[in-house]
Amino acid sequence: MRIGVLCSGGDSPGMNAAIRGAVLRGVDVHGFEMIGFVDGWSGFHNGDTVPLDRSAVQGISPLGGVFLGTSRVAPFSGRPGEKIDLSEFKAKMASYGLDGFMLIGGNGTQTVASILASHDINVVGLPKTIDNDLAATDYTFGFDTAVSVAAEAIDRLRTTGDSHRRCMVLEVMGRDVGWIALHAGMAGGAQAMLVPEFPESIEQISEWVTSVRDRGRSALIVVAEGFKLSGESEATTREGLDGFGRPRLGGIAEVLAPMIEEHTGIETRATVLGYVQRGGSPTAFDRVLATRTGTAAADAVLRGEWGTMAGLHGDRIDMVPLADAVGILKTVPGDRYAEARLSFG
Ligand code: F6P
Repeated sequence: MRIGVLCSGGDSPGMNAAIRGAVLRGVDVHGFEMIGFVDGWSGFHNGDTVPLDRSAVQGISPLGGVFLGTSRVAPFSGRPGEKIDLSEFKAKMASYGLDGFMLIGGNGTQTVASILASHDINVVGLPKTIDNDLAATDYTFGFDTAVSVAAEAIDRLRTTGDSHRRCMVLEVMGRDVGWIALHAGMAGGAQAMLVPEFPESIEQISEWVTSVRDRGRSALIVVAEGFKLSGESEATTREGLDGFGRPRLGGIAEVLAPMIEEHTGIETRATVLGYVQRGGSPTAFDRVLATRTGTAAADAVLRGEWGTMAGLHGDRIDMVPLADAVGILKTVPGDRYAEARLSFG
């Protein structure tokens, strides 16, 4: 059995550990041959491969990023909804002598995986994303690390906020969902967590900030990049599109800070956490989850469970049909937001 491994989309702490888990189980236990494609589908197109064996993956679990590289290059041309011709793709796959793929990625990548599976291409998905927005799995590796970094940032911003009696606004990632904002804010005792799923008005946010000041504290607000004020239809964007052709989000903290200052009269500062929350060494939780995800994927390949993705359910990793995982965002549910919102202000 010869398996190609590749990563697509943004990097996420734990990707190295996932590859290590897949290789240790796949090569050493099941006797597969495995190759890695450098920089995602770009390595597949250009013939840029590395052999994956035990020595290639030794000592990499604690490392952030991904040693294979990742990109948002597409595997085939065609737009969603169009009929896709995969004859060229299949010929390329045959030229590598591949029996199947292990695809490490988030929503976009698992959608590609399900398209390939629907064209009888052998593929198993390993879900990753700091945003934690993939359905059919409880948590994705990378999320815990991002939350830990964001919670530490909150602790640090607090000391400046409290010293200067300022309101601090921290922007975290979260394109469509507010899991990082919700969890980091809860961990850090933020006075409001603003998430894409639940718009709030500037009046309401300002009321929370004022009530914090009135009881002698300085407010700290966490906002996910995809948050929209009530009545707004689009999230705040930066210039340009990402590799998947989506608008590059970001900048909502810088929009909110002057608005809060104007409404409350309280000096307000914005901080954008940015790629700091996606980089660096994964937490122990993410290393364990990623390793087990890689191991489960290798076992699934052995059993011929193609067209599936390794999902965490409670403490178990089960293979779920890719079709159940893609096209559905795992958003913050109303009860989780309501539970947190009770302590805003
Ligand atoms: O991985 C998803 C994500 O974290 C989104 O929250 C964010 O919009 C995106 O990555 C930004 O990544 P890049 O700048 O690499 O396209």
